[in-house]
Amino acid sequence: MRAGDHPRVTAVTGPGSPWSVVHHLDEVSSTHDDALARLKDGEVAGVVVVADRQTRGRGRAGRGWEDGPGPESSLMLTATVRAPSGAVTLAPLAAGLALADAVDHLDLLPEVEGVGERLRLKWPNDVMVDDRKCAGILVERHLVDDPNGGEPVDVLLLGIGTDVDWRGTDRTGERAAWTSLAEAREGDVDRFALLGALLEALARRVAAVDDAPSALLADYRRRCLTLGQDVEAQGVGGSAISGFAVDVDDAGRLLVDTGRERIAITAGDVTLLRSDT
Ligand code: BTN
Repeated sequence: MRAGDHPRVTAVTGPGSPWSVVHHLDEVSSTHDDALARLKDGEVAGVVVVADRQTRGRGRAGRGWEDGPGPESSLMLTATVRAPSGAVTLAPLAAGLALADAVDHLDLLPEVEGVGERLRLKWPNDVMVDDRKCAGILVERHLVDDPNGGEPVDVLLLGIGTDVDWRGTDRTGERAAWTSLAEAREGDVDRFALLGALLEALARRVAAVDDAPSALLADYRRRCLTLGQDVEAQGVGGSAISGFAVDVDDAGRLLVDTGRERIAITAGDVTLLRSDT
């Protein structure tokens, strides 16, 4: 089945929806490259690109992003939206929350009594299940020409890569820090049902950046694995700082208390010192 034909996807695309069309490609260099090329060719924000394989998948901080063992192992997509007029830096957090919403909506990882939610967000937006990463998010901002000849349009490419079903993967060595949804739930996951639920949640969460940022941040803080932990992070200028992650501010920055001062981290890798994540 093609992604755009799944009933949960057709239910959230087309007229009246923020998502105009879902292009499902067998192989692409990166869904970001393809989505940007489409916008430059005159398609408008709202286009979604899904690929089974990426030959040059991109991760954060210049890293790559690996495909799964088979063409249906991962859900890799770029959703294009007009940049919010509010705090655009909240969009990557909104995308992480949207994936959490989708997993909840499909009840893929029911809460464990006494433990709470299994899916949490490691700041800024690594999606973790039981402390193992199962999805990553890469957001890019571009100005593209308006096909109608107006002012250039400020768009975000919301790239989400979810490891859906990597069962059979050897989880020793570096791969021990990762999991997939099917491994975590020990059962099947309908990849395109997840896509439909994700697109529904993504539209709502991205709209909240402008409409309801306080509620968005409150939900984010509840889901955030990093808060209340000792962390090591890159401060402004690139120097490593250690401290206690106390909050996420209104711009989505992680506030780290070093004992002497409170430093706002805007981007980069944060290591939780309590474990090897
Ligand atoms: C990370 O490093 O955690 C972010 C990974 C983002 C991967 C996704 S897969 C779909 C989209 N296309 C890409 O090339 N990257 C993002």
